[in-house]
Amino acid sequence: MQDEIKAWKPNELARLRRLVTKWYSENGRVLPWRQTSDPYEIWVSEIMLQQTQVATVIPYYLRFLESFPNLASLATAPLDDVYHHWAGLGYYRRARQMHEAAKRVESEHNGVFPTEYNRVSALPGIGRYTAGAILSFSRDQRQPIVEANTLRLYARLLHLKLETSSKQGQSHLWAFAELVLPLRTGSGRMNQALMEIGSQICLPKHPICLRCPIKRMCPTFASSSQATIPVPKKPKEYTELREAALVIRDSKGRILMRRCTLDERWAGLWDFPRFDVTECNTSAAESKNVAAQFQVRFGKSVFVGKKIHELKHAVTRYRITLKSYEAELDSSIPGTWKSTVETLWVNPKKHLDLALSSSGKRLWSWLSNAQT
Ligand code: ADE
Repeated sequence: MQDEIKAWKPNELARLRRLVTKWYSENGRVLPWRQTSDPYEIWVSEIMLQQTQVATVIPYYLRFLESFPNLASLATAPLDDVYHHWAGLGYYRRARQMHEAAKRVESEHNGVFPTEYNRVSALPGIGRYTAGAILSFSRDQRQPIVEANTLRLYARLLHLKLETSSKQGQSHLWAFAELVLPLRTGSGRMNQALMEIGSQICLPKHPICLRCPIKRMCPTFASSSQATIPVPKKPKEYTELREAALVIRDSKGRILMRRCTLDERWAGLWDFPRFDVTECNTSAAESKNVAAQFQVRFGKSVFVGKKIHELKHAVTRYRITLKSYEAELDSSIPGTWKSTVETLWVNPKKHLDLALSSSGKRLWSWLSNAQT
């Protein structure tokens, strides 16, 4: 038994459902998105909850729905307004895709959020989990869900000794996620309840098994294998990158900012002029390379001065060291800009009204503080 995946019998599943439902009625948290069956509102919550904690999401969620109370209001809003409501949540791609999806629902589904799984999962930013969550929570469809919390819970209920991200591991997890759902009604509530046990009881490091309503049915509890199930992930392999940002001021002390283009990591957001310098081995080579890249992108010559700041940040599989340099435009060559990117001169003493990349925001706040 110890090495095998647990095969759940129908009577055990029925018992598990009863115990989970009772526990959830008595212990489930009251959360704003659990008080609605509107697919739009549930969708907003699910997108925000990807990679962001419940406590952080709540105020953002409430403000977002106040400004964009329905799908039409989101679809017709300028993307920058949506970004503003997202500022602080990070991962702006989620906001951009949600905006894009809202426009698609307006144009392709007459403004009505679709109820067929294939149509929902075809929308930008909506994967298997999110489609299942929206349709089970809002329409009580029998749709399985596997996200971080249910993944851990299901791996332990199955005694799964495979890597959870492997093809076979995923296939077991999704099959169980469906099996565990009640056959007629109540899938939405069951999914919420299982997610709640995953997030409140079946914790990654120190699960509170003694409070778990289904511990007696859990093979991982029986074999005390909580530390090794789910199988710990291999540490991420990072690629080191080096980038250089330019802090360029005009005669009024304003700083040059530019909007990231669609092919860039922070598409649509604002940032300092920034360039990859991973291949440069010396600081002289770095300055020369940055000046050349600036000329190509912005159509102007620039003098790169001294380094004023350095920060490190990580994005997906990249670890990035960002060095910032003071720089000055070469005013000896008059003429208009031939910039291929949108630019703006911004006063660092005034409230910043632009959605910045997260590392851009760190540099901006350092500059603003250094100013005062
Ligand atoms: N994480 C993702 N979706 C959630 C939900 N609906 N409730 C609580 N946490 C979640």
